[in-house]
Amino acid sequence: MTLSITSARPDPTMFDLPWAVPLEEWPADNLAALPRGISRHVVRFARHAGKVFAVKEIKADLASREYEMLRVLGKLDLPAVIPYAVVTGRVADDGRPLDACLVTRHLSFSLPYRALYSQSLRPDTASRLIDALAVLLVRLHLSGFWWGDVSLSNTLFRRDAGAFAAYLVDAETGELHRSLSDGQRGHDLEIARVNIAGELMDLQAGGFLEDHTDPVETATLIVARYNSLWDELTGVERFGTGDRWRVDERIRRLNALGFDVDELAMSTDLDGTSIQIQPKVVDAGHHSRRLLRLTGLDVEENQARRLLNDLDSYRAATDRLGDDEEQVAHDWLTRIYEPTVRAIPRELAGKLEAAEIFHELLEHRWYMSERAGHDTPLPEAIADYIATVLPAKPDERAILGVDTTAMPVLAVDRD
Ligand SMILES: Nc1ncnc2c1ncn2[C@@H]1O[C@H](COP(=O)(O)OP(=O)(O)OP(=O)(O)O)[C@@H](O)[C@H]1O
Ligand SMILES: [Mg+2]
Repeated sequence: MTLSITSARPDPTMFDLPWAVPLEEWPADNLAALPRGISRHVVRFARHAGKVFAVKEIKADLASREYEMLRVLGKLDLPAVIPYAVVTGRVADDGRPLDACLVTRHLSFSLPYRALYSQSLRPDTASRLIDALAVLLVRLHLSGFWWGDVSLSNTLFRRDAGAFAAYLVDAETGELHRSLSDGQRGHDLEIARVNIAGELMDLQAGGFLEDHTDPVETATLIVARYNSLWDELTGVERFGTGDRWRVDERIRRLNALGFDVDELAMSTDLDGTSIQIQPKVVDAGHHSRRLLRLTGLDVEENQARRLLNDLDSYRAATDRLGDDEEQVAHDWLTRIYEPTVRAIPRELAGKLEAAEIFHELLEHRWYMSERAGHDTPLPEAIADYIATVLPAKPDERAILGVDTTAMPVLAVDRD
């Protein structure tokens, strides 16, 4: 048998990783200490060529299937972990064949839901996680992806301006169809509800859930959140011919939810008294695309909304409402955003993503101003935030030393 690595970005130095050793026994200097969710397979984080990869030991056919599926999801621009390689033909030094490995890029600043629960929490964490998962599920379904194993543990969460953005991490059971029937969508949603209820009950048994949160009731939130978003994104709306403003209004509503309308079907009834509209193709990322176009910053949707609002205030405050938007955005980027990010001491930069720090800083300035009864200048808010808020936060780029005894099912590799 020969060791073989299949990858869209082949890197021969990948052969240097200890593939002849069962993943469970990999030496610490190949590993990165990061929080990991619960799983059936052995999953470990490997450090290689300055990057961190998640390695999952799994049968070769399943590894290839999941690799292909993740590639397709990436091409469809859906939020999922990025596949890197499939490693097959592994043989231990004593001649025993070893299972294949699926290698994915570690999603930086991502958190398994259990790691979130090991930190001090805001009371509505469960419902914010479920909101994020509902958005992910709707996006997957719009693209015809049936997940089959929707759960909090098969999802990774990144902070998104006080909310969360969800990414699919486990595509093993997924199927891609041209489109999904209501029955298929309902099936996934039921799987989600049951799995989430179980996961929240586990947290409750461990004493991690807030007292007033009922696991079953909270899990059911996913159904309502999913359905209302699905209806808004796909529903037919009918109105009188005189009410054409409602076309614009629908588009604005979708934009506010973070979606762009790529195709909208319009028709009138036979006597021409009413118009019927239905979005046919919608694209997530309304605000993040706009921010990317204006500034080159690639951030999550709510973070983008927040930064765009700040850009708008900057434009108003500097009296440049009539100026070219690109020019103002460039000035905001170089005079406000970048100096702020640069002001974060290097040793604190691993706490949160830059855009999340910026968001928190704006909140912080708001509270300072409210307390003082007048506007707080940004540099003053930055200094106070760096001195009083940031140091107390856990390092989320690479959480070290998560207390695994308190969180028995959360695995952390320590080096
Ligand atoms: N690319 C990645 N970036 C960050 N974390 C990851 C990545 N891949 C896997 N993980 C972590 O490893 C955990 C297990 O991964 P995964 O769900 O794919 O394993 P599994 O054994 O197939 O799970 P299951 O028990 O659901 O079959 C995830 O919950 C996540 O915490
Ligand atoms: Mg899993």
